[in-house]
Amino acid sequence: MGRNLAGKRVVLTGASSGIGKALAVELAKAGAHLVLAARSADKLDALAKTLTGTTVFTVPTELAKADQRENLIRTAVEKLGGLDLLINNAGIASWGHFATSDEAVMREVMEINFFAPTDLIRLAIPHLTNGNEAAIVNVSSMCGRRGMPAWPEYSASKFALCGITESLRSEMARFDIEVILIVPGMAKTSLRENMARNEGKAKLDFEKGMPAEDVAARILNGIIKGKREVVIGSDAKWMLRMHRWFPRLLDRLICRRVKKLYAQAPAAGK
Ligand SMILES: NC(=O)c1ccc[n+]([C@@H]2O[C@H](COP(=O)([O-])OP(=O)(O)OC[C@H]3O[C@@H](n4cnc5c(N)ncnc54)[C@H](OP(=O)(O)O)[C@@H]3O)[C@@H](O)[C@H]2O)c1
Repeated sequence: MGRNLAGKRVVLTGASSGIGKALAVELAKAGAHLVLAARSADKLDALAKTLTGTTVFTVPTELAKADQRENLIRTAVEKLGGLDLLINNAGIASWGHFATSDEAVMREVMEINFFAPTDLIRLAIPHLTNGNEAAIVNVSSMCGRRGMPAWPEYSASKFALCGITESLRSEMARFDIEVILIVPGMAKTSLRENMARNEGKAKLDFEKGMPAEDVAARILNGIIKGKREVVIGSDAKWMLRMHRWFPRLLDRLICRRVKKLYAQAPAAGK
């Protein structure tokens, strides 16, 4: 028997677009009670109006701000009367080489992709402990299992999220809180438009990525079945297999590609 989502009290971050928006639709269909968070209040409200047959609240939240993270969990518990699921889906990417990046980009990406979800988890634990079939769901990336060139900040932040997810899985077992890791490959969303930096040279074809609805359906299935880790997409599966079984070959292929792309670029510091 899987987890029954009907009546589950859920906080979902990054619900205003892409994977989060599609996941909100799936969760509402399954009968979950939702608190949706993101910065774009208008988009959240428009989405909430389409989600009928269940309870939906929106809490506009800037996840970079600690007081707004605290407000999100407090308001969710007040509105829903408790908490069963925390889904850390919000994220930003950054695309460009580390040699020409700066500390501000690293701090911004780490704040949204790592510090915000970990803070929300800490705030949510006392409530999830009293929850019904409680779970924490962290949306990482294939870049969180294999660091990729031109994604240094993003890879680092998503690796950190994978690390804490694994650490918490056994810690949370004593509170009966499941911890689920989501590892998607490329998906067709607004991630590109919202990047902290967009200066990579390779052609990034998000249009060829998975539809957000497919990713959301796989995440929902993982939550229902209580999977420990859900790798989504043929690109992610290929990359993680190559990384596991042929890491040096994968390094060579990627290095060759980077050298070719940057053959005409000046060396760092010149
Ligand atoms: N698309 C991909 O190829 C891909 C692949 C692997 C993993 N992922 C991961 O999937 C998750 C969802 O991304 P997506 O692809 O659906 O991208 P998206 O369409 O850009 O959605 C990102 C969501 O995060 C929210 N967000 C960003 N910065 C925020 C902030 N400072 N405070 C509050 N909310 C913030 C955005 O809402 P507002 O702008 O309204 O605040 C939006 O709802 C991310 O964690 C991403 O890293 C995506």
